[in-house]
Amino acid sequence: MIEFRAHGKLFVAGEYAVVEPGQPSVLIALDRAITARVAEGHGSGTVHSEEYGHLPLTWTRADDGLALDREHHPYDYVMATIDLVEKLRAERGIAPRFHDLRIESQLDDASGRKFGLGSSAAVTVATVGALDRFYGIGLSQRDRFRVALLATIRVNPRASGGDLAASTFGGWLRYSAPDRERLAGMLGGRTVSEVLADADAWTGFDVERLPAPKDLELLVGWTGSPASTTKLVDVVRRHRNGGYPAFLDESRTCVDDLTTGLRSGDAAQTLDALRRARTLLQGLGASVGSQIETERLATLCDVVEAAGGAAKPSGAGGGDCGIALVPADTDLAGIHRAWEAHDIRHLSVAVQAPEGSV
Ligand code: PMV
Repeated sequence: MIEFRAHGKLFVAGEYAVVEPGQPSVLIALDRAITARVAEGHGSGTVHSEEYGHLPLTWTRADDGLALDREHHPYDYVMATIDLVEKLRAERGIAPRFHDLRIESQLDDASGRKFGLGSSAAVTVATVGALDRFYGIGLSQRDRFRVALLATIRVNPRASGGDLAASTFGGWLRYSAPDRERLAGMLGGRTVSEVLADADAWTGFDVERLPAPKDLELLVGWTGSPASTTKLVDVVRRHRNGGYPAFLDESRTCVDDLTTGLRSGDAAQTLDALRRARTLLQGLGASVGSQIETERLATLCDVVEAAGGAAKPSGAGGGDCGIALVPADTDLAGIHRAWEAHDIRHLSVAVQAPEGSV
């Protein structure tokens, strides 16, 4: 049995702006993960997940090996990933084999509700990693990320891939995305191996390690309501106006200041940048009339600010989680109690240690 763990994530700063190629963001990987386990299949391939139960895949024999009938399959990210890795496997001259894939998630609560910790990204990265090992393809860490991004943009063409980077590399990260429209176009006419090897195709993609903040505690609150990232990204896109270039500039400055605060271990600068990241999202929410910072997310953040910390929605907002940094001597139990009084659950998570060098 081969297994691969891929981590959940939270956005710290740069959301929405990061969908533009080259525009920076900061993310963290969490110690909660999705695990993909692959075993040899016996005459057919299957996918099993807690969420969707047992899903038999239709494998057919094609000239170049196995082909998948992925029509009407709900598990889009897994299917897009299998499809792409099978192409890569065939390109590298590796013989096809049936496989049974099992997915287990720590990114949902006991009743299966998603926390919004990047489960689509983690399942994609976990599937790439498990199949890479199963076939002995030998992808580098960066190429595992690249394959995961190519699979993701087939399902969600606008996804920045920041969540995939956190899931792949672990730790605190600064990330900017390549031009996914261009990548998708290239995949049309070239092999996966060619696209992976074309340095030009990945212009804008950058990932750097950042140190964890000094003298600050990380807190995560869950609002209990799910949010639709694709819907919110579309709303922001449709309503972007003359203020959009200024938003991108301010977001870059905010991420740069956060980066400097983290690198120099300056807690005050780090907190200040996080507060500005919240304000930037609020401005975006107001201008598009959307609900990026819901009432519960606002309460989550206000409680933390009143205690001397900084907090903001993580990711697209509209529900899911908020992320907070507070000075190390803060009364954490007091914040948890205040959150609970407003139906906000404190999630006990830690940052996943960095994995490999970026
Ligand atoms: O809502 P999340 O955690 O999936 O994060 C979305 C972040 C956006 O910048 C709004 C979109 C993206 O693809 O990066």
